[in-house]
Amino acid sequence: MSNEESLKKATEIVKNSEKIVVFTGAGASTESGIADFRSEGGLWSRYDPSIYASYRYFLEDPSKFWTMHNELVDIVVNAKPNQIHYAIVELEKLGKMIAIITQNVDVLHKRAGSGTYTNLPIYELHGSYEKLECIRCKKEFLFEEVETKSVKYPVCECSGYIKPKVVLFGEPLRPSVIERAMNACRSCDCFLMIGSSLLISPANLLPSIAKESGAKVIFVNRERTAMDNIADLFLRGNGGEIMSELIQRL
Ligand code: APR
Repeated sequence: MSNEESLKKATEIVKNSEKIVVFTGAGASTESGIADFRSEGGLWSRYDPSIYASYRYFLEDPSKFWTMHNELVDIVVNAKPNQIHYAIVELEKLGKMIAIITQNVDVLHKRAGSGTYTNLPIYELHGSYEKLECIRCKKEFLFEEVETKSVKYPVCECSGYIKPKVVLFGEPLRPSVIERAMNACRSCDCFLMIGSSLLISPANLLPSIAKESGAKVIFVNRERTAMDNIADLFLRGNGGEIMSELIQRL
């Protein structure tokens, strides 16, 4: 099917849907200047995730994690939402959405204004960079409160390591967040995935949960994903262009 045909079909599906779940991955933020993880030149081609993003490794020596994280956060803090984030805001304004589920920690959905027009929940499956926590005493900090650049790694007054509340490899997702996200997938009529390789579990189980519950499943992605067999429609290309075109046609 050509992209034009897929776009027509996607427009029809979205027009007829009232309970859309939008699911985003790192590909939703590349047009904001934040590199994704697994594309050519992505973060994991420069930093081995089994060292730099592993919870076990963090417990041994947090300095490697912080080297990578400081670099990422410098970019994230200065990034602005893009056409994808704003198109999702338009879907919310049309009263068509029940949830945003994101694997991204960059809070660009919130910055674009998602959640301010309705009570739309944003489930940040992998946390966000904005909050940090001492892994020993569990004291919470805001991003601005912790100096991370002039030290090898930040340490709490109790001498525990401070870690952003992002989910590293080897750490579980917060049960309340993943459960709510799964429930949204069970009750949606359309599951719209934008910018994910769908390689990482349990997030990548969500499209099939939606599909099994009767939802239409649309993927918008530059490359093939690990779950293409589930998609009713695959729109291949840049999410910004595709989502803007979709919104115009509604
Ligand atoms: N428009 C559409 N698709 C895009 C765009 C774009 N502008 N830019 C990139 N993509 C696609 C890529 O082709 C790729 O398939 O987005 C996908 C991004 O995949 P990953 O880099 O694997 O990111 P993601 O799926 O979000 O990773 C999941 O893995 O590393 C962990 O915790 C990290 O949350 C992350 C999780």
